[in-house]
Amino acid sequence: MTTIDTVSSLRAAFDAHGQAHVLRHLDALTPNAREAFLAQLSDVDLALVARLAKPAADEKHTFAQLAPAPYVALGGDTTDARGAGEALLRAGRVAAFTVAGGQGTRLGWRGPKGTYPATCVTGRPLFRGFAEQIAAAEKRYGCVIPWYIMTSPLNDAETRSFFRDNNWFGRNPADTFLFPQGTMPSVTFDGKLMLETPGSLAVNPDGHGGAIRALHASGALEDMRARGIEQMSYFQVDNPLVRIADPVFLGLHAGHAGGKDARSSGEMSSKMVAKRDAAEKVGVFCDVGGKTGVVEYSDMPAELTTAVDARGMLRFNAGSIAIHAISVAFLERLASGGEDGSFALPFHRAKKKVPYWCDAQGKTVEPAEPNATKFEAFIFDALALATKSLVMETSRTEEFAPIKNASGDDSPASSHQIQSNRHGAWLEKFGVKVPRRPNGDVDAQIEILAETALEADDLSDTALPREIKPGDEVVL
Ligand code: UTP
Repeated sequence: MTTIDTVSSLRAAFDAHGQAHVLRHLDALTPNAREAFLAQLSDVDLALVARLAKPAADEKHTFAQLAPAPYVALGGDTTDARGAGEALLRAGRVAAFTVAGGQGTRLGWRGPKGTYPATCVTGRPLFRGFAEQIAAAEKRYGCVIPWYIMTSPLNDAETRSFFRDNNWFGRNPADTFLFPQGTMPSVTFDGKLMLETPGSLAVNPDGHGGAIRALHASGALEDMRARGIEQMSYFQVDNPLVRIADPVFLGLHAGHAGGKDARSSGEMSSKMVAKRDAAEKVGVFCDVGGKTGVVEYSDMPAELTTAVDARGMLRFNAGSIAIHAISVAFLERLASGGEDGSFALPFHRAKKKVPYWCDAQGKTVEPAEPNATKFEAFIFDALALATKSLVMETSRTEEFAPIKNASGDDSPASSHQIQSNRHGAWLEKFGVKVPRRPNGDVDAQIEILAETALEADDLSDTALPREIKPGDEVVL
């Protein structure tokens, strides 16, 4: 039970920061609602909110020293890297890690995004597709790949029920570890905290960068250590084509039998795809003062975004697809805190539409326009803290079909097309006749399940059709 003293000191602290307005309904709340609200208020770092709400005048990025980051291009000999990655997998040293705490507002799906029916023929939910891929890799390498999933307080319960209702997709429940990330309060454009209801603040998940703190606080890092995990395969919940256990990437990142790749410290590596065009809104891998980092699309000066080299190719073409390999040792170092005892990653600001409690209307109102600033940390900021960092090119068709928007680019429709393009190309490799439209897209829906093939060459022992007809729906 909260004491009167605690309530008065909370009031005093909120008052001192000009935030006492959020306590205006406190006395009208039921005892339980009041307790819950006071607990939420005591968790707010008022000084941090005040600092973040007022950007320093000199904070705008300047990129005098920006150069394209070097990367391992597609098409090289990957035999050694593959061998090293396979050895890591066989020895059970690799975990999977999905960040699934986002709100998925652009897609507008009712539940957690991982429950979205994502595949082009069977409509498999994203979580099921990942689980089946992990199970197939476990079978292939004779190992356990523990799966860590970061949810948020807003979607944790629903995500857990989804896994329970689906019997953990046939995998041992002890090998899936769900944990919620932290939240940050949203503020109005003049820095005021907002109520979502009379007894709760408007908060948002603290960004995928919140993973560092959450992996530590939840005990996930400790669990990895106890299991002998050395490397973590990091991916977002919205890309059904991600290759979770990619031996080539893991091998390049963690080191070959003959020693570490000189470009990697084995701490944090990334995959990139060549940007579609200058206007594509993805972060770009850059060399920032000698360190590899991701520069956000909106922070990139226009003359650099459109700059081309002697061959007419975009100079800054290494688009980030948010796939990383990260070592447990590196995560432990970050989680043990920077010099100021923080979790090391800075917060970014974004203007968003945040539902808020309106006293006059007596209800929570959905604003039509952005009305608030959200604070989020980004995982790619950890790259700057790695000693060295490797970037590997991959093919967009092979590995990147994100579902972000309800329509247009990065939507279910575009993802389905890329899925069919990938699987069509796999079949063509084995002589199957696959219909294509004039623009090169496959003119059929083709889904290849993880248990059938994790990559094209796995189809060598599979009975394949001789031809696929336009408009066919095929599941293998
Ligand atoms: P996005 O940047 O696409 O954000 O997240 P989002 O919240 O899912 O979607 P919108 O912007 O509201 O439409 C990229 C990945 O990072 C995860 C998401 O779940 C997704 O896998 N994420 C994002 C978190 O885990 N936590 C966060 O706080 C934010």
